[in-house]
Order: sequence, then C-alpha cells, then structure tokens
Amino acid sequence: MKYKVIAIDGPAGAGKSTVAKRLSIKLGYTHIDSGSLFRAITYIVIKLGIDINDVEAIIHHTKNSTIDFMNNSIYLNGVDISAEIRENTVNTKVSYIAMIPEIRDIVVNIQRKIAANKNVVVDGRDIGTTVFPRAFIKFFLTASIEERARRRYNELLDKEKFTLEEIKKQIIERDYIDTNREASPLRQAEDAILIDTSGKNVDEVVSEMLYYISIKGEV
Ligand code: CDP
Repeated sequence: MKYKVIAIDGPAGAGKSTVAKRLSIKLGYTHIDSGSLFRAITYIVIKLGIDINDVEAIIHHTKNSTIDFMNNSIYLNGVDISAEIRENTVNTKVSYIAMIPEIRDIVVNIQRKIAANKNVVVDGRDIGTTVFPRAFIKFFLTASIEERARRRYNELLDKEKFTLEEIKKQIIERDYIDTNREASPLRQAEDAILIDTSGKNVDEVVSEMLYYISIKGEV
C-alpha cells in the first residue's frame, strides 16, 4: 500500500498550520507541522544559551536531543514544549536556525520517517519542493502581509509586549530570510495549487482544498 502526502507550503501567517490540522482531521491523516520541529530546535538553542552563530554547538545539541510528535503536541526529551515554541523569542530566531543545512537534513529525516507508514498532511516552506517532491497534491497558501501580521498578532499570548507594526516587520524579515536562503528556500512548487487565504475563514480554505483533492481522486 502506498501512503499519501498532502503538502502545504507558504509564508508566515498564511494559515498553513491551522488548515493542515483541520484537513488532517477531516481525512483521518496525521498532521506534521514541520515548522514546530525547527521551533523545537530553536527552543533548545535559547534554553541552553547557545550563540546562534555557533553552528557546531547547535548541531551537537540537536543530535543529542530527542524531539517527538504525539497527539499534536511536541516533546523535547520527553517534556511537552508546545506552548514554549510559540513564544516570540522563538519567532525572531527560528529562521536563522532553519538556514543551517545540517539542521534541515535532520528535520527532513524526521518528517520522512513519520510519513513512511502513514498518510500525512505536512505544512512548511519546502515540503512540495524538497521534502516530498512527489506528494499526492501540493498547495501553496498566501495572504496579504496586513492580514498575515494581524493573524499572528492576534495569536500572541503576550500582546502587550509588541505592536502590530513590530509583528509585521518581524514577518517581513522572516519571509525575506526564508525566501532568500541557499538551502531549500521558500518557493511555490511548479505543480502546487495557489490559494490566497485573504478574507477567507478556515472552513472556506479547507473546503477549497477538499474540492481539489476530490478532483485528484481517492484519498
Ligand atoms: O507558523 P509560521 O508560519 O509562523 O512558522 P512555522 O511554520 O512554525 O515555521 C517557523 C520557521 O521555520 C519559518 O519561518 C522557517 O524559517 C522555518 N521553516 C522552514 O525553514 N522549513 C519548513 N518546512 C518549516 C519551517
């Protein structure tokens, strides 16, 4: 039996993780949030006080850590860090960690291992282009920068510490780094379906995706 991969890529705040989760529940697939793996590694770096330029130390500590997904939560050495990886200190550093090719290899392997024996919905930046180039179907989600910043700001637990304008600047910076890095930059795969989520709610986006999936055939 061949297992299916549904790939969802796009910039920060385009709604990938939320729709990927909803879609995975609807289809009975496993959701892999690849960004949460890069976030978990960034959390290790922050927690241990490693300099983000000390690539050797980052790789060493990542290899000596155990990162697991279970029931939509992410665990580092057995401890649930799902809330910690969403903190803004992680947001501002994660794209620097995700530039390191050795770190990308580790994250790619974790994803391929999970998808080896399950149907999966995977969201990230390089899923359709690099991690699963032969995915069953690929989507590329976008939204206007205003809408993406507003969504991200509304999600923040510590809103009082930041202005909407600061969050917008951080997203623009992260998009720039993700799009211009050498290792698997963020880009739309040639065979990906583009969906602009501006002004659409989660259900509308998921319905649109289910329509394209139904055209493709049996899931
Ligand atoms: O949810 P949001 O779009 O803010 O970010 P995320 O999906 O959690 O990803 C956080 C960061 O990890 C991104 O800005 C990228 O730098 C990196 N990332 C990546 O390089 N490749 C992926 N497949 C997923 C995330």
